[in-house]
Amino acid sequence: MKILVVGGGAREHALVWKFRQEPGVSRVICAPGNAGTAADSNRPLDVSDPRAILALAEEASIDLTVVGPEVPLAQGVQDLFTASGRLLFGPSRVAAQLESSKAFAKQFMAAHRVPTARFRVCDTADEALDAVSGDQFGFPVVVKADGLAAGKGVTVAADRATAEQAVRDAMVEGRFGSAGHRVVVEECLVGPEVSFFAICDGQRALALPTAQDHKRAFDGDAGPNTGGMGAFAPSALVTAEIDARIRREIVEPVLEGFAAQGDPYQGFLYVGLMLTESGPRVIEFNVRLGDPEAQVVLPMLRGELAPVLAAAAGGYLGHSQLAQTRDPHVGVVLASGGYPGAYDTGLPIAGLAAAAALDDVLIFHAGTAVRDDAIVTTGGRVLTVVGRGADMTRAIERAYAAEARITFARKQVRTDIGRKAL
Ligand code: AMP
Ligand code: GLY
Repeated sequence: MKILVVGGGAREHALVWKFRQEPGVSRVICAPGNAGTAADSNRPLDVSDPRAILALAEEASIDLTVVGPEVPLAQGVQDLFTASGRLLFGPSRVAAQLESSKAFAKQFMAAHRVPTARFRVCDTADEALDAVSGDQFGFPVVVKADGLAAGKGVTVAADRATAEQAVRDAMVEGRFGSAGHRVVVEECLVGPEVSFFAICDGQRALALPTAQDHKRAFDGDAGPNTGGMGAFAPSALVTAEIDARIRREIVEPVLEGFAAQGDPYQGFLYVGLMLTESGPRVIEFNVRLGDPEAQVVLPMLRGELAPVLAAAAGGYLGHSQLAQTRDPHVGVVLASGGYPGAYDTGLPIAGLAAAAALDDVLIFHAGTAVRDDAIVTTGGRVLTVVGRGADMTRAIERAYAAEARITFARKQVRTDIGRKAL
């Protein structure tokens, strides 16, 4: 099987790394890729152009395309592949609205009785200002831009003035462009957050290990929201009982809901959950794997992933299984100083080989490129270093031992990834 992985982050490097080890996979191409995926041959690609993705898959005679980021899915790359008779693992444009429109996701959840925060979809600023007055949801209250806003569209507002400002930023100032012309105002939930992932074929879901992300930039969950500064898996908070509830109350109704409307959900389903006192509640859906969660979840799979994804993309998982280890995995993101704000690029990275030589360590590249035989930084999140061990303490120790060996100017790292699991 020849596989195309679309994207260029550490999540995509982890997918490439996994596929490369599988006997049934003869070739892996990554587009656009990074310095870590380059050995498998990267191809230039504008991932926001579904036609370019299809053209590449056709030209390289790809058997299965696996999409990392949400943007091409939201733009209908799955529909385009299906119309051309090519296999792509990921949901249709309609189903991808679970991520690309928060209003769609909330209305879908309401229609299918999926537990989530109480909400109101607002199409005008007046409506939204009324929704944040405190009468309906109290404070704090959550204001979310409807569309894709690169993780910046959510404000958890402690008081009315902050909430009104968030409404004006989105709906009057146009801070998120058309993504903010509609907002969802919702009640603020309390509890730990966990990520649940499943491989779906339209009918059935095969669960991957659970994980916990660290979204804030600095230690102790302080500072601005980022794409994710580290993750660990599995999450001990997801007990067998909670796992069963997530499947029964959330995953099954989602699959049944899409099947009933004639848009079977095929692809990764990422459920961002808050474990509240009254049970698991959906904070958000994503239609792809998380980053950095993928970097800790994929190395826990013992079986071959490619045939399972191909079966699911074909609409029938059948009796596919995915053996998994329970050994903890911890992923620490090495970011550029200043991220998620402005940062420098082109800085040489040293120590990669020394870090990779350590036992129980994996190194996944994100914002890296090869320039004049050196590997340099090209993005905000530069690398994810993963440590594994028989227990969480050992996995954390391995990840940070590797992290310490890698240097570049103004490296920014959280020092407490995984600590909340101890
Ligand atoms: P999202 O972009 O939807 O993942 O939201 C970003 C973050 O905002 C989440 O990871 C939560 O920490 C927080 N958040 C979103 N919705 C709520 C909610 N209803 N209650 C409390 N926190 C929330
Ligand atoms: N780690 C959060 C995300 O991928 O959206």
